[in-house]
Amino acid sequence: MSQIELKNLVKKYGDGFPAVNDVSLDIADGEFMIFVGPSGCGKSTLLRMIVGLEDITSGDLFIDGKRVNELAPRDRNLAMVFQNYALYPHLSVFENIAFPLRLEKGRHDEKDIDRKVRQASSMLELDEHLERKPGNLSGGQRQRVAMGRAIVRDADAFLFDEPLSNLDAKLRGQMRTEIARMQRRMGITTIYVTHDQTEAMTLGDRVAVLKKGVLQQVASPRELYEQPVNLFVAGFIGTPPMNFLPARVNGNTLSLPFVDVPISGDLAGKLSGKEIVIVGIRPEYIKDASLGDAQPQGTVSFRAVVDQTEWLGNEQYAYIPYQADEAVQHRLDELDRELDGEGMRTQMVVNLDGRSRILEGDEGDLYFDPSLMHVFDPETGENFTRDEQKASQIARESEETRKRALQRAREREGLAEDGDGQRVTADGPDARGATRA
Ligand SMILES: Nc1ncnc2c1ncn2[C@@H]1O[C@H](COP(=O)(O)OP(=O)(O)OP(=O)(O)O)[C@@H](O)[C@H]1O
Ligand SMILES: [Mg+2]
Repeated sequence: MSQIELKNLVKKYGDGFPAVNDVSLDIADGEFMIFVGPSGCGKSTLLRMIVGLEDITSGDLFIDGKRVNELAPRDRNLAMVFQNYALYPHLSVFENIAFPLRLEKGRHDEKDIDRKVRQASSMLELDEHLERKPGNLSGGQRQRVAMGRAIVRDADAFLFDEPLSNLDAKLRGQMRTEIARMQRRMGITTIYVTHDQTEAMTLGDRVAVLKKGVLQQVASPRELYEQPVNLFVAGFIGTPPMNFLPARVNGNTLSLPFVDVPISGDLAGKLSGKEIVIVGIRPEYIKDASLGDAQPQGTVSFRAVVDQTEWLGNEQYAYIPYQADEAVQHRLDELDRELDGEGMRTQMVVNLDGRSRILEGDEGDLYFDPSLMHVFDPETGENFTRDEQKASQIARESEETRKRALQRAREREGLAEDGDGQRVTADGPDARGATRA
């Protein structure tokens, strides 16, 4: 078990380029932390600095309160699982998993090694494959062998760098749930790098969003989704992504491409002096009025021509083009580049109910609740509508959920805190008969 603290970490590679720029972050004991962001934002570099494979240019790294900047990787007792698994092709699965134990010469006898390997393999459902060679295994099985090697080491934390990116979509989904379950069951602090936001949202207790080496926001998935701090986070989290519409500010009204929206005096105050802003509306916030569902108070209605629809059974995407406002288009183009986008067309994506019968070419009756909309500063990207109170409420709830889940998992597995507050690890005989969750 381990608590990891990053303080103002900076990494400059040889050419002086800051790959990681002043990142500070506290990772709690037993927490599942995700590093996410577009390609080249510094995720791997940050992970490699923590594990000790990359020097820290400046800043401090603490593990359980101890500064470890100068500590060699093997002395940090962290287990890293790489994207390419780094398995030894000539060794059996058993020997691959046993490898780190054999490296610690003399510390483990054969019986001990056998017990640890079998315990890991049963947890990972590799029992039948122990005598096979990695080359004959599927991608998912190889992945599990790599994880087994991390498990037997009794490491203080697991570090993963895009461990599932080589797998096909189905297996990726399976492994994702497997990793989540195992992390909970073992209660091990985990840092996981991905650029896949589904992985980020489903696995993470908290998610750290990086852009060009700079930490943008670290929060629970729900807080990121509902209370993003800026345009970048808002655009990065969510599929299909949040719609960004240019809007003109006229006192207490925002003029969007389709409709005028009244705003609160509070928001109007924050926007005073601004001529134009960017309004963010998630695709599912817009509804089809013809379904006759009760509309909450204060909704705003508008009509718009749908030029394309995609019906998926349980839901339907509708695409609604609009005339872009020159004044913010450059900002939206730049944002698109930052998000590794494929070129945002000036169209709004609406995620309608599967019952909706709006067809291509139809003019639909639509509405949305303006209290859900976000308003961003086009220059700085700051979110004017972020509600700090709601955000901290979500953070509190997420932290409670995390602690409860960890507690439940530990109870289920018969793991307990002993007198010194030390976790009795999964090595104990009590964990051997553990049932799969
Ligand atoms: N050995 C190196 N020497 C110089 N620059 C490097 C080196 N490794 C990485 N960089 C630069 O540091 C930045 C961050 O790289 P990093 O590999 O951490 O990104 P990443 O977020 O993991 O990206 P990806 O999603 O593509 O894996 C990039 O701009 C990259 O070009
Ligand atoms: Mg990387």
